[in-house]
Amino acid sequence: MGEGKRIGLDVNNMMADIIGMPYGIDSEAVDALAPYAQMAQKSVRENRGKGMLGWTELPYNQAEIVDKIEAVAARVRERFDAFVVLGIGGSALGPIAVQQALNHLRWNELPPGKRNGPKLYVEDNIDPERMASLLDVIDVKRTCFNVITKSGATAETMSQYLIISELLRREVGEGFASHIIATTDKSRGNLIQLARAEGFETFIIPDGVGGRFSELSPVGLLAAAVCGIDIRAMLEGAKLMDATCQCGDVWQNPALLEAALQYVAMTDMGANIQVILPYADSLKSIADWFCQLWAESLGKNVTRKGMAVNVGQTPVKALGVTDQHSQLQMYTEGPYDKAVTFIKVEKFRAETAIPHGCEQFADVAFLGGKTHGQLIEAERQGTEYALCRAGRMNQTIVLPEISAYTIGQLLYFFEMTTAYMGELLDIDAFNQPGVEESKLASFAVLGDEGEKFARKREEMAGQAARREKYRL
Ligand code: PA5
Repeated sequence: MGEGKRIGLDVNNMMADIIGMPYGIDSEAVDALAPYAQMAQKSVRENRGKGMLGWTELPYNQAEIVDKIEAVAARVRERFDAFVVLGIGGSALGPIAVQQALNHLRWNELPPGKRNGPKLYVEDNIDPERMASLLDVIDVKRTCFNVITKSGATAETMSQYLIISELLRREVGEGFASHIIATTDKSRGNLIQLARAEGFETFIIPDGVGGRFSELSPVGLLAAAVCGIDIRAMLEGAKLMDATCQCGDVWQNPALLEAALQYVAMTDMGANIQVILPYADSLKSIADWFCQLWAESLGKNVTRKGMAVNVGQTPVKALGVTDQHSQLQMYTEGPYDKAVTFIKVEKFRAETAIPHGCEQFADVAFLGGKTHGQLIEAERQGTEYALCRAGRMNQTIVLPEISAYTIGQLLYFFEMTTAYMGELLDIDAFNQPGVEESKLASFAVLGDEGEKFARKREEMAGQAARREKYRL
């Protein structure tokens, strides 16, 4: 990765010959892993489009869907003041991340004339105060709701659907169905049945596209198009990244190199944590999206052959420069259990000049005549230096600019890296049994009548009794 509008990856500071021998990765360790990395790349390449690798084809197989998304988005923009996504996890983090990355940072607060689309709200929680607060600020008669759930059965999302559909029936009456767009699986779950029965506009999440790999499907593309984002450019960016991932040489394929380095960092160097550290407010939610992708895909307790393991690298999100004043102390002097991934932006979309002033204070006056862009990059470089000096592995993903094209590349890069890492760890990166367990237990707590929930209730009742001395 290198020139033009391509994103880049600079791994210098991960390596022992740059940051010092006991601290960085010996390039020979990467060479030793190269045959396994090549097998990982081959496996993903040969199985692309199949099983849970359906997402690899999203940049190529959605021509008609993109036309439909744009047509529906145009209608939504004309008719509604607000667009609300009801969804959680992979059905919410992508839409949030892309909106924050590619649209005005204060989009909802802009006057309508300065906003190329309705206000966007993504309701990815069921905090009762949050739903109440949403209803305080939107006019349901002027709002379109996009209910997104791949399984069509997620309690959080379906509970939101129940609340909103009842409200719409009450407030809008007969035409309420035209306020709801369903995005779901073609046959699985309840939402598709509801959509058919009620006549909701519907988008299908293709087979082989799990929640956290779905941003480049209608899950993410619809909200993006509604808010005026160039979704075709996003898909073009993903295509470009896919092309760079066709190579099995670990030193040539950026996603493969990234997976190999994190694998070695984790298994040989004890870097069980990866801190993702964008130096741009607009990429803060991309860090959130990455954390779900990395955590839910790779935190597993069994290999594909059924061997018990407990693997995965814990992702931690941070924001530059904000977290220099919060977490950085831990990263420079705490345990050697982390690798830091900077995301650097070469050219911001706006610049703020710092005026001259306070000449009596030299340490303030020197800022005059510089820009915030210069200051944030200087601070990023300063942090990078401090980490290197303390022998802390770090690397930088470089975005020449933040655009639909570079964000498409970035999302696909992270997805491909995750798939390769799953291969290297020999785990199923596309399931989430640990999450299922919590869902089952919650339903049992809520008193679901089903037999499996009754069994779970019984099991839960057998937990060790809580002791008063541990309750203060
Ligand atoms: O990545 C995943 O599969 C999950 O995080 C899901 O996106 C999340 O649990 C929501 O599931 P669903 O889209 O089925 O409502």
